[in-house]
Amino acid sequence: MKLGVNIDHIATIRQARGTDYPSILDAATLAEQAGADSITLHLREDRRHMQDHDLYTLKPLLKTKMNLEMAATNEMLAIALDVLPEDVCLVPERREERTTEGGLDVVKQFQQIKEITTTLKAAGIRVSLFIAPDKEQVDASHELGAPVIEIHTGHYANLTDLTLQKAELEKIQLITTYADEKGLVVNAGHGLHYTNVQNIAKIQQINELNIGHAIVAKAIFIGWEKAIQLMQQCIRESQN
Ligand code: PXP
Repeated sequence: MKLGVNIDHIATIRQARGTDYPSILDAATLAEQAGADSITLHLREDRRHMQDHDLYTLKPLLKTKMNLEMAATNEMLAIALDVLPEDVCLVPERREERTTEGGLDVVKQFQQIKEITTTLKAAGIRVSLFIAPDKEQVDASHELGAPVIEIHTGHYANLTDLTLQKAELEKIQLITTYADEKGLVVNAGHGLHYTNVQNIAKIQQINELNIGHAIVAKAIFIGWEKAIQLMQQCIRESQN
């Protein structure tokens, strides 16, 4: 199972003071050296962390691949077509939210997401749709031609009631199998940390986990590369 390291919150620290440090490029380079399989970043409409120039700086220098998370808007589409990341993950975005809440409603926004997906695919970009573990959303994603889905694990991560968390995990397991059988590549992410990633990492059909906040938080105390390696160790050990 691959690990995509989300470096948004390195930029959050930089933007808090308007400095040019911590360096996004150093974060990405060191993450790759530590074993990250891809570098994930979210260019939000309000530019609260990543800035446009970060994408242009990183793209030619990444050794792995860039996974750009973005809203399904014309503004973001134009940027993606200019930067040409290897992967784009379409996410829902609301200006007032603290982080990405919920998945895309691919059923309701079918036409708009289909058009953006088709345009990105024509440019050679692999498109992933960030969706809740829901059969209808998987069906719609498959129907509009997305090759990849990313299952939103935020609800699973936030649940404190163990019975409810187990039920949500079972839903993620079932939907992963369902999507995998349809031929979709299945990624997962959001809210995963060092003690809840294990059950998700046991789901063999998952291709890649995208994790950010928990790794940046851990890095404050043990260092960036160690925090990434520790997450990889958690993933590996739960698969044995
Ligand atoms: N995957 C997607 C699609 C996201 O939007 C985010 C948050 O930017 C993540 C994964 C990473 O979430 P977290 O920072 O909670 O690990």
